[in-house]
Amino acid sequence: MKITIIGTGYVGLVTGVCISEFGFDVTCVDRNEEKIQTLQSGKSPIYEPGIESMLQANAAQGRLHFTTDTAKAAAGADVIVVAVDTPTSKSGDQVELGQMYAAVDEITPNLRENAVVIIKCTVVPGTTRKVLERIRKARPGLKFSVVSNPEFLREGSAIEDFMNPDRVVIGVHDHYGREVSEHIYRPLALQSTPIRIASLEDAEISKYASNAFLAMKISFINEIADLCEQTGANVIEVSDIVGLDTRIGDQFLRAGPGYGGACFPKDTKALAAFGREAGAPQRLVEATIEVNESRKYRIAQKIVDALGEAKGKTVAVLGVAFKANTDDIRESPALAILDVLLKSGIKVRAFDPQAMRAASKLYPQVTWCDDPYKAAENANAVVIVTDWNVLRALELMRLKSVMAEPLMIDLRNIHRRREPAKFGFTYISIGRDVAEPADSEHEADTRHLRAIGG
Ligand code: UGA
Repeated sequence: MKITIIGTGYVGLVTGVCISEFGFDVTCVDRNEEKIQTLQSGKSPIYEPGIESMLQANAAQGRLHFTTDTAKAAAGADVIVVAVDTPTSKSGDQVELGQMYAAVDEITPNLRENAVVIIKCTVVPGTTRKVLERIRKARPGLKFSVVSNPEFLREGSAIEDFMNPDRVVIGVHDHYGREVSEHIYRPLALQSTPIRIASLEDAEISKYASNAFLAMKISFINEIADLCEQTGANVIEVSDIVGLDTRIGDQFLRAGPGYGGACFPKDTKALAAFGREAGAPQRLVEATIEVNESRKYRIAQKIVDALGEAKGKTVAVLGVAFKANTDDIRESPALAILDVLLKSGIKVRAFDPQAMRAASKLYPQVTWCDDPYKAAENANAVVIVTDWNVLRALELMRLKSVMAEPLMIDLRNIHRRREPAKFGFTYISIGRDVAEPADSEHEADTRHLRAIGG
């Protein structure tokens, strides 16, 4: 079976590489020649753990190819997976389907008999059926199937998520599309992955519902974190306790600066807009969006306020990617934070292990540094925005020694509350009391007292 993937973004590339790992012959297509040349040379244009070695191994076996020739790649394929970008439209919150329809129109004249077109892009309910009708109209009499197969990959662990998913969703309108899709995912079925066969609309809506629910969990715990700050409670303890209820689950209950990335912000807005149009308003989703949008700016203001007289001060921003293990800065809360800091007349120095290339283009006025200690030089505060492991492992004594003032603002709660305080930092985190250097001394004293029976 020959499979062609249209689009080599995160979804398309990971899908192509992993399906070739299943043993299929895969051709990945992209219009961007530079990207295709990079891929042909065995390099990945995106940072995604594990992708490059898998790409090279499958290309070396002769079952993974890259081309800019959509027509040829479509003509030779039994299955065509459409995985192009479906961004938010410029005029509103709706999802922009132009690129997806353009890709469908480009492959349609070249579809062979019994081809299966799989829509992997995130599209609002009803779209895949429209694709079906569009191809039917353009190619009357052609036997073909269309499938909706949404993805649930997380950037940073996309390969692992593809190879060990919680479920695979296959939305179909006929038996043939189902059979072919089940054949592709057989390696996963054999390892007991639930493969859910659904209608086209069920598949489409379950993708939006999943992302919106996860985003809602995050906005929920972020508001609970605000409450913890007002009451002396600790949000980490609270989410631990709440998450132990198996009906709730402990995932996506980490409070932070708000969710970002290419998916949650876009998909929640699209679902809310679609709900309004369809006469089924999604009020919880609307609230989720509102909480997240305002949060990024509130958190940024919290940093400015912590500096006292902020103008002219220096802040080191550590991490700008929207989360760890990716070089993606799309909708990263760090961007809102950089905007507010710069607008407040603060000098910003910044570091990120992977995302600096993209971020430095957007923020040339920021001093970009190769390591966190350089970024912290003479800073009045360091702000941890992304939960990179390299930031968890910071040598706090060394960090403090290069700074002008020992103030740490940790928006991901990556440190234990009293740890930085032990090294003399004032430590502000999310949903927990501020820890002052004296707090840790006090704790050491009481420990000493306990040890001597006091
Ligand atoms: C998300 C979903 O998790 C995937 O299942 C889905 O396939 C993907 O969107 C998509 O639609 O393509 P992704 O955006 O890569 O994946 O990243 P997540 O790990 O979900 O994180 C999203 C944001 O939420 C990040 O900014 C992250 O820092 C934040 N987050 C996550 C929290 O603030 N707290 C948490 O507990 C979890």
